[in-house]
Amino acid sequence: MSAHFDTVVIGAGAAGMMCAAHAAASGGRVLVVDHAKAPGEKIRISGGGRCNFTNLNAAPENFLSANPHFCKSALSRYTQWDFIELVDRYGIAWHEKTLGQLFCDETAKDVIAMLVSEMEKVSAELWLKTSVDRIEHGGDRFMLQLATGEIACENLVIACGGKSIPKMGATGYGYDIAAQFDIPVTDTRPALVPFTFSEEMLSDTRALSGVSVPAMASCNGAGFDEAVLFTHRGLSGPAALQISSFWRDGDAIRLAFVPELDLLGTLRARRASDGRKALTTVLAEVMPKRLVEYLAAHLELAGNLADQSDKALKFLTDALADWRIRPQGTEGYRTAEVTLGGVVTDALNARTMEVKSVPALYFIGEVVDVTGWLGGYNFQWAWSSGWAAGTAIASK
Ligand code: FDA
Repeated sequence: MSAHFDTVVIGAGAAGMMCAAHAAASGGRVLVVDHAKAPGEKIRISGGGRCNFTNLNAAPENFLSANPHFCKSALSRYTQWDFIELVDRYGIAWHEKTLGQLFCDETAKDVIAMLVSEMEKVSAELWLKTSVDRIEHGGDRFMLQLATGEIACENLVIACGGKSIPKMGATGYGYDIAAQFDIPVTDTRPALVPFTFSEEMLSDTRALSGVSVPAMASCNGAGFDEAVLFTHRGLSGPAALQISSFWRDGDAIRLAFVPELDLLGTLRARRASDGRKALTTVLAEVMPKRLVEYLAAHLELAGNLADQSDKALKFLTDALADWRIRPQGTEGYRTAEVTLGGVVTDALNARTMEVKSVPALYFIGEVVDVTGWLGGYNFQWAWSSGWAAGTAIASK
């Protein structure tokens, strides 16, 4: 006889734990299985160990999907305010770092402990170091072959995340399960990921390694005004990570350096007041010196401010507002924060996350083709979609 559960959730990550805590609320027997040694490993390392757990500004516009409307229902029914209320109930102190991004004051482990406690409160079980070898579906039951034996359930929730950071336990297993049930999956690609440069570009930009500068990074109609960081591999920093979700192989990225500043107006004014200062000296007051040295070599910047004609200053500021970089690629799933794409949303009920063609099968979290911007949006999607499936199961 195999052990029987009302609901089995595969994946004890952000979405899976949230789902289990709600699915078990009406008394059903709920089990979460995960092949990892500990639950919520990505939560633990997220936000530099402080977990950027949501964003005050979370809205459907902050998510990429082939169907941008799909995420609306879950995001509007379990919002950032609901998650903040949960965090507050547990007395977890938090702060807004920037751009609505909320982080724990202490440690991401508080969020994991909170989710485990929410599961314990409703007696949801958690089996770690447990991999699923095979899933069979017959009648109104799913049979799961685990290394330790067979289990059966009425509801099966796939919450095993995407392919990003295999070292953290990511397997892409959710896409295999989708294929088994003939559920379409979009092309997937690493997103929120640093760019890599060719050897030739690296030899040109090597001196910039470690330089961070405010910049608007744009590509394919999207633009993010944050900062970019030149690295020994290429380009990183929040604006670069954000734009990586929109970039495709071969595309150029446009950088506008120090976009908040009216650079042309500033330089003209300084030419009037400080004409005897070197152009590069004044530029180095508003952007990193090493970047100015690099730009000086490429744009042949020379002379004092007084030597610069209006035309020369305009040429310079236009160049700094439209600096093109064509990365060779990205660092891939090894360092990507998320996987772009996933289970096609048309196959799912937007209210419940249930597969339309396979009743009682659910996909939640990163495995679904809904990908948030950098800044707490991806966790919000995990909470919202996990809640949507969990409450739908509990109300059956
Ligand atoms: P998640 O990946 O969290 O969980 C999936 C679970 O399934 C894992 O526990 C895994 O072990 C398990 N699993 C996989 N395959 C399995 C199998 N075959 N059998 C059994 N179990 C299996 N987002 C954000 O909003 N704010 C942030 O600060 C960060 N920071 C961040 C940093 C880093 C370094 C990374 C890699 C990612 C982030 N993210 C983030 C993204 C965020 O971590 C991600 O969107 C969510 O964790 C996705 O939640 P899921 O529950 O869908 O998958």
